[in-house]
Amino acid sequence: MYLTRQEQQTLDGEHGWANQIAMKILVRLGDLYGATKLIPVQSAHLSGVSYKHLSDAAIDFLNELADKGGSAKTTATLNPSSLDTEYLIKHYSQERVSQQEKIINLYSRMQIRPTLTCTPYYIQKPKANQHLAWAESSAVVYANSVLNAWTNREGAPSALAAALIGKTPNYGLHQPQNRKPNVLVKLGIKLQTESDYGALGIHLGELLKDKIPAIDGLRGSVDELKQLGAAMASSGMTALFYTQPPLKSKIAETLTVERKDIEDTKSKLRTTDEKPKLVFIGCPHCSFNELRTVALAIDNKKVRDDTELWVCTSRHIKNKSSRYVAIIERAGGHVMCDTCVLVSWIKDLGLYTLVTNSAKTAFYAPTLNEVDARLEPLKRCIESACGA
Ligand code: F3S
Repeated sequence: MYLTRQEQQTLDGEHGWANQIAMKILVRLGDLYGATKLIPVQSAHLSGVSYKHLSDAAIDFLNELADKGGSAKTTATLNPSSLDTEYLIKHYSQERVSQQEKIINLYSRMQIRPTLTCTPYYIQKPKANQHLAWAESSAVVYANSVLNAWTNREGAPSALAAALIGKTPNYGLHQPQNRKPNVLVKLGIKLQTESDYGALGIHLGELLKDKIPAIDGLRGSVDELKQLGAAMASSGMTALFYTQPPLKSKIAETLTVERKDIEDTKSKLRTTDEKPKLVFIGCPHCSFNELRTVALAIDNKKVRDDTELWVCTSRHIKNKSSRYVAIIERAGGHVMCDTCVLVSWIKDLGLYTLVTNSAKTAFYAPTLNEVDARLEPLKRCIESACGA
């Protein structure tokens, strides 16, 4: 891969150890995927934040980077952590809390903003055609497909390296020839709820792996497309989809989705019929509109004593939605920031069964949380929480 003089100096260690390590990661990646050069990125979004998923060795590595001068050269934001500072912090051990705080502080020392959300696009929306280096698969697919920004699906180390250098190798979805759809999906059904969109995403992700679908007949809102993309990127590696077929070119491979595919997927995502201990909304973190929808659905209802309702969002959205937050909290729900179910230790809280409107959460919870799950649309989730 071609390097400028300054990039070569960084690789040779002339700009400090932290920058050298970051450059080594980017060069290795670029060589592996045949990139010819590095390109600047408008922002980097980092995973690898939750203490639940971070090893001690990884924390030591972050410490070393911060001690040796690592500092972001582009706007850099963080994915959710394992707890929030109002509710969960009171339920976990001091060791968990202090280790989590340590991780966030290390990132902050490197000028990486502790946004602690998987929806950085609500804080600062990337413009079309801007190059990004984002980890967090749900944000990547949303950025590429809904916002038409350009990012590969980064891992935690490569997103961190891109943040510290301000650049990423030019390969994959940074190149127009790799952004063309290669499967035409014919949707023979009308999707009705956000959980239908999520189930479609799980179904397509399993079939497509990393192919790029153009989905003919898709008419979702941006929030429904968010559910679709997050789910597709969970069961597969898809990082980009289109909501209509290309006007000029033809696609050779075709796939048809029937109502039965959606229902079969929902059945597979249902590992329990029991009354849930936890009802969870907000994967990916709720938008302003989603918070309002939850508030309208739960207004004048009461969450049952034997059930918890968690609604996860970013601090940015929560601060803008105080009226809706008040309604949800008056009903007995918790509107949480900085965290979510999958990156926290819900089983340790005795929450063994959950109902959610997120196909991504229903897909992962049985393995990542070792709890049973069920996918239901929002209305049914609220009924489960409030006992209608
Ligand atoms: Fe976000 Fe957690 Fe879902 S990080 S995408 S709410 S698993």
